[in-house]
Amino acid sequence: MNRPENTTFSRQFPQNSGTAVSSSSPHVLIVGSGIAGLSAAIHFSDFARVTVLAKATLDEGNTRYAQGGIAAVVDPSDRFDHHIEDTWIAGAKLGVPEVIHFCVQEGPARIEELKAWGANFEQELHREGGHGARRILHTHDSTGQTIENALIQKIRSLSQIDIREHHTAIDLIMENKVRAQSAKKPFGRALGVYALNTKAGTIAAVQADLVVLATGGAGKVYLYTSNPDVATGDGVAMAHRAGATVANLEFMQFHPTCLYHPSAKNFLITEALRGEGAKLLTFDGRDLMEGKHPLGSLAPRDIVARAIDAEMKRTASPHVWLDARHLSTETFKEKFPEIARFCGTLGIHAPKDLIPVVPAAHYSCGGVWTDHHGATTVHGLYAIGEVACTGLHGANRLASNSLLEALVFAKRCADHAKNTLKNSERLTIEDRLPEWDFGRAVELEEQIDITAAWREIRTLMWNYVGIVRTDRRLNRARERLALIRHELNEDYWKFRLNRDLIELRNLLTVSELIVECALRRSSSIGLHYNTDRLEPPLGHPPETFTLV
Ligand code: FAD
Ligand code: SIN
Repeated sequence: MNRPENTTFSRQFPQNSGTAVSSSSPHVLIVGSGIAGLSAAIHFSDFARVTVLAKATLDEGNTRYAQGGIAAVVDPSDRFDHHIEDTWIAGAKLGVPEVIHFCVQEGPARIEELKAWGANFEQELHREGGHGARRILHTHDSTGQTIENALIQKIRSLSQIDIREHHTAIDLIMENKVRAQSAKKPFGRALGVYALNTKAGTIAAVQADLVVLATGGAGKVYLYTSNPDVATGDGVAMAHRAGATVANLEFMQFHPTCLYHPSAKNFLITEALRGEGAKLLTFDGRDLMEGKHPLGSLAPRDIVARAIDAEMKRTASPHVWLDARHLSTETFKEKFPEIARFCGTLGIHAPKDLIPVVPAAHYSCGGVWTDHHGATTVHGLYAIGEVACTGLHGANRLASNSLLEALVFAKRCADHAKNTLKNSERLTIEDRLPEWDFGRAVELEEQIDITAAWREIRTLMWNYVGIVRTDRRLNRARERLALIRHELNEDYWKFRLNRDLIELRNLLTVSELIVECALRRSSSIGLHYNTDRLEPPLGHPPETFTLV
């Protein structure tokens, strides 16, 4: 991966960059540099000045680790209605039909765009769980890296995009805090964010005509996850604090096959391997999915993850196995080179050796509630990519639909915002935002309390709000989170903020929201499986809940 020597750089917006954009063009702030944020930045750069914030280096986020690929109807023998049906069924019929339709139908055009930006895919399509056909575009098992590299190269070539790495957005700046006359409005419009420059230790206001949250997922809420460290649900927490509606957060998807090894922090073994015929085996070597679902090891993820969870609990085994021994070493290395390489470094020589796997938190199907263009319920605020809840996934995401959703909504969001910005008032000089007030905050001398609270939240979420839930465990989680909330509220403003403290507050908020959403749901559906509430009350249709 090409990284610049200086991890942070920013550009002056040119007066005349050769495009229609000038210093008087609207300014759009995009928080996040994964597939959603970067592809939106490219679209926005046609008519706006764009700033992109990234918490770490530009390439760090869930996108880079995507293995399986992007689902889209590109094979002549495939059909839109089949992809639509598979998405609808995987989502336990809780998805929004119109959203499913346009995401599937706009997929091929977005893929062509991505190719034009430099991402190349293999000819042969992959197949993954829940898909009735081969429709996954991929570059072997490192599709995310291909996409992220292409997008980074593209945006670095666009002079109207200002890139700020190592900047952690802390909170949205809302109109009611800034303009006296808006104080009576509950929140007003989003005017920008406060962001911590983690290299310099400074906090500054970043002002914008429009803010797009593209902050990715929240896997770090759980002790075991496939997600990298930046996935702490910041966007959901910030949006919630700003009064935006969030929804469906109980639908955390657990990927059935993360590598089980003390030296593998969060390494995924792609579902595409099961698409090539690999089978899940119990610890003592039996076919784990036999008799549990007609699609066997390729059944939808929620079903496979629950079957593994039940088996591990029943037998107290530390993991189950993935068996790819039907593939030759050459085929395995050719199709899954990164998995072969990484497993090899740990002494697991797949496909000859069985691969030890466990389920882990993988994808947040819920998030900030948006309309068909990524607009949230807060004026001036959009949410796209994994941070959003658009209605595509319903109660369970179909494999490889998330990269697709990010591309579709990045484009829709930019198209919609172009009109909104034309018609709405722009920020004026009087709107200059107040500086961050450090108050009497002191330097934090010991990290230990923060580290302990991080671990406590993640452990209790794993134990009480995991793959299989009960009312008792959910209520316990709620009580324990309330205690942590009490302690954090006392401490948060006492110390100068660092990234860990900011993330801790967000992890806590997202955990609370997941528990609240889970407790509100009256029956089990899709990824939310509560053994005290297996069936819906008679005549009760499935509900989508929103929280403000
Ligand atoms: P991300 O790519 O996660 O980017 C988030 C960005 O937000 C990062 O730049 C981060 O620094 C930034 N950020 C976060 N908080 C802040 C903050 N407070 N301030 C500033 N910046 C912030 N999906 C598929 O469709 N197909 C697959 O094959 C697939 N495989 C996967 C494999 C793995 C191991 C994982 C973890 C996920 C996989 N997914 C897959 C899911 C998919 O990768 C993600 O849902 C998708 O990449 C999310 O893209 P995004 O742009 O929304 O967020
Ligand atoms: C995988 O490759 O198994 C992950 C695909 C996804 O999360 O969509």
